[in-house]
Amino acid sequence: MGGPLRALRVPSFAKLNLGLEVLGSRADGYHELRTLFQTIDLHDDIVLRPLPREIRVRCDHPQVPADESNLAVRAALELRRHARLGHGVEIVITKRIPVAGGLGGGSSNAAAVLMGLDRLWKLGLGPAGLHPLARRLGADVPFFLLGGTALGLARGDEVYPLKRQVQAHVVVVDPGVPVSTAAVFRRLDASLTPRENSTTIFRFVSSDLEGDGGWRLLSNDLEEAALEEAPVLVQQGRRIRGVLVQNGALWAALSGSGSSFFGLFDDARRARQAQAALAKEGFTVSRARTLSLDQYRRRWSRVRCR
Ligand code: C5P
Repeated sequence: MGGPLRALRVPSFAKLNLGLEVLGSRADGYHELRTLFQTIDLHDDIVLRPLPREIRVRCDHPQVPADESNLAVRAALELRRHARLGHGVEIVITKRIPVAGGLGGGSSNAAAVLMGLDRLWKLGLGPAGLHPLARRLGADVPFFLLGGTALGLARGDEVYPLKRQVQAHVVVVDPGVPVSTAAVFRRLDASLTPRENSTTIFRFVSSDLEGDGGWRLLSNDLEEAALEEAPVLVQQGRRIRGVLVQNGALWAALSGSGSSFFGLFDDARRARQAQAALAKEGFTVSRARTLSLDQYRRRWSRVRCR
């Protein structure tokens, strides 16, 4: 009670892009998107340990940078500048989300640091107060301030939770091929025709009103470019999707710019069977559950400074 601040442990969840439409390129070099985001309970663990002045990061994964190029460090620096404080923090990240896998790991870590330090430093900013900082850090960061099933517009950084919150068992397959998002978008530019009138996500959202899941309406406009960027994924993707669908997946797709694929199941047993079948073929597979807006909020409400 009233002693020095103790360390704060926060979860940093992964996301899927259930669907992703690229509508065109923007003057700022980014692309105009319409995407359906979904948080899942696959997560990294982050411990925030107060330090007098220094901001530093440690991570158990060799591909994660330990300097200021780490988005989690940049998040802490931005928040400290914003709050005009001198506090330091050590950020210790235990990775479970595949790195450069299209699951938003780095962006999620940055958002978790913003939300964790908002509590640790007692700033009281909340999602709305943190949003301007989050969008400066990266296009996917704002989504993780809310979580659940949400529509991402503009660069993906304008986020609107949907009434329809997807509930599913998830199988995530990491082919172990890191793919650069920037490189995938560059490839896409060569072939991009504006698709402002694309309506697949609208049709998906409205199909639920008719009791139809509508999964087959979805698509990922980055897939073709991602497979060009990492051709080894063509064969692997075909195999992964085949096994997921054979085992009863409602929907199987590439997440974001890849390289992770996922399958959604309404039944835990089928998800377990798909996981076992893919593991037997040598893939790195994990099982998760979707996290709705409320579930995400509840997981964060358990994070308390003592
Ligand atoms: O914002 P973030 O750094 O996560 O984005 C990674 C890269 O993905 C950007 O540098 C950009 O090349 C590309 N991107 C894009 N349009 C978006 C989101 C990302 O071109 N809406």
